[in-house]
Amino acid sequence: MNTALQPSTSMPWFDVNKGILDRRIFADPAIYKLELERIFARGWNFVAHESQIPATGDFFMSFIGEDQVIVVRDRKGDVQVLINSCPHRGNTVCRAEQGHTNSFFCSYHGWNFDLDGRLVGMPGEEAFYRKDIDKAAWGLTRAAQVTSYRGFVFATLDAAAPPLEEYLGWVGRLGLDMMASKGELEVVDGVVKNRLKCNWKLAVDNLYDWYHVGVSHGSAMRLGLLTTEGNAPDSQMVILGEYGHGIGGPGISEAQFADMESRLVHGKAGEPQWYDRTGINRLSAEVRAELGPVGYRSLGHPSIFPNLWIALTNQICLRIPRGPFETELWWFTMVPKSLTAEQRREAVFVATHYFGPAGLLEQDDGENWSHSTRGAQGSVSQRRPVNYAMGIGQDRVYEDSSGQSAIETVVNEHGQRWTYQAWQEWMLAEDWDALKKNHSQPPRGSV
Ligand code: FES
Ligand SMILES: [Fe+2]
Repeated sequence: MNTALQPSTSMPWFDVNKGILDRRIFADPAIYKLELERIFARGWNFVAHESQIPATGDFFMSFIGEDQVIVVRDRKGDVQVLINSCPHRGNTVCRAEQGHTNSFFCSYHGWNFDLDGRLVGMPGEEAFYRKDIDKAAWGLTRAAQVTSYRGFVFATLDAAAPPLEEYLGWVGRLGLDMMASKGELEVVDGVVKNRLKCNWKLAVDNLYDWYHVGVSHGSAMRLGLLTTEGNAPDSQMVILGEYGHGIGGPGISEAQFADMESRLVHGKAGEPQWYDRTGINRLSAEVRAELGPVGYRSLGHPSIFPNLWIALTNQICLRIPRGPFETELWWFTMVPKSLTAEQRREAVFVATHYFGPAGLLEQDDGENWSHSTRGAQGSVSQRRPVNYAMGIGQDRVYEDSSGQSAIETVVNEHGQRWTYQAWQEWMLAEDWDALKKNHSQPPRGSV
């Protein structure tokens, strides 16, 4: 490893016990390159939702780190994830962001690939190659493993990765279940994509950040888009899982459930509160059982490490790295198929007004992340580590007899610390064997 990448033994990139982080991790190109290899090329990455590719030949273009991948339904009905780079000279074999095709035809010299990535033909196979080419060896590169969980398609480029369900663990699965339990979902056509001048990790760690809401989004509060009570509650539930997954944010109390039920189920008049829109499915006994005694009370933001945020406002967001100083955000609006046209319109309206380039909240957040990234670039400013110490050593993990656990406390930075602890472990592990052996188990007892 490049010595510049070696954290010193006295002060690793992230000092887990003190919550102090070396901010060069937001700026160093060598660290960024290592992230692409050790995090993105190694982990399971969300690449598409099955509703986007229902029929044979349907495809959606996605990314695993900086590797562009075509997610396509093949002739057997299986989902293939193919690296969009022709083995002949490296050209892309597909330029569209999504669509339907019979094959992938390279625009440079015309090599043609079937939906499962096999090279099926090329101009001049007889006349120029004189039949001396092993087509079976020159197909598109396939992801090492592709698996779908409740309609969410994930792929890994590393054959040694554990199976998806094991990788997700109960917390990653719970995060996806929280969205999937709303009903049979479909992605609204038109994934909203925009770029921010920020390091991808700052966008990721913000999803646990309920400290900034009252300040960063103060203008949204003044406009009435958010309420202090509803959107910036002091009480928080943090659920930590293996490999860096987690869920952080408010919990629903039994009193709030009772209130929700009386107003929504029994038709009592009253303006719906914040939790009505995102937590109404929790009134169902089946959903409660499915999410478990701890999980059903969480309205936090699930994070699937490394870069998928499940925003329970009917959206999920990928934070795709574009160099150390830039991130592409892809917002998928996801709604139950059972919604009426009116409800669907409202869901899309809410989604686009909160997040994405037109979203009021993301404009606030994006400015802050960009300036934090800039602050990591100055040769002097970057010498000063940054502070993720809120709540350290102050809380306990509650363990339910069901096996689920959570930290129930006030606004805190447990989720952010867990993210950087996991990030550091991923970055220091040589391979999956080392990561499986050495990664931290979610904390128990005092945190
Ligand atoms: S680069 Fe694709 S056919 Fe030559
Ligand atoms: Fe925010």
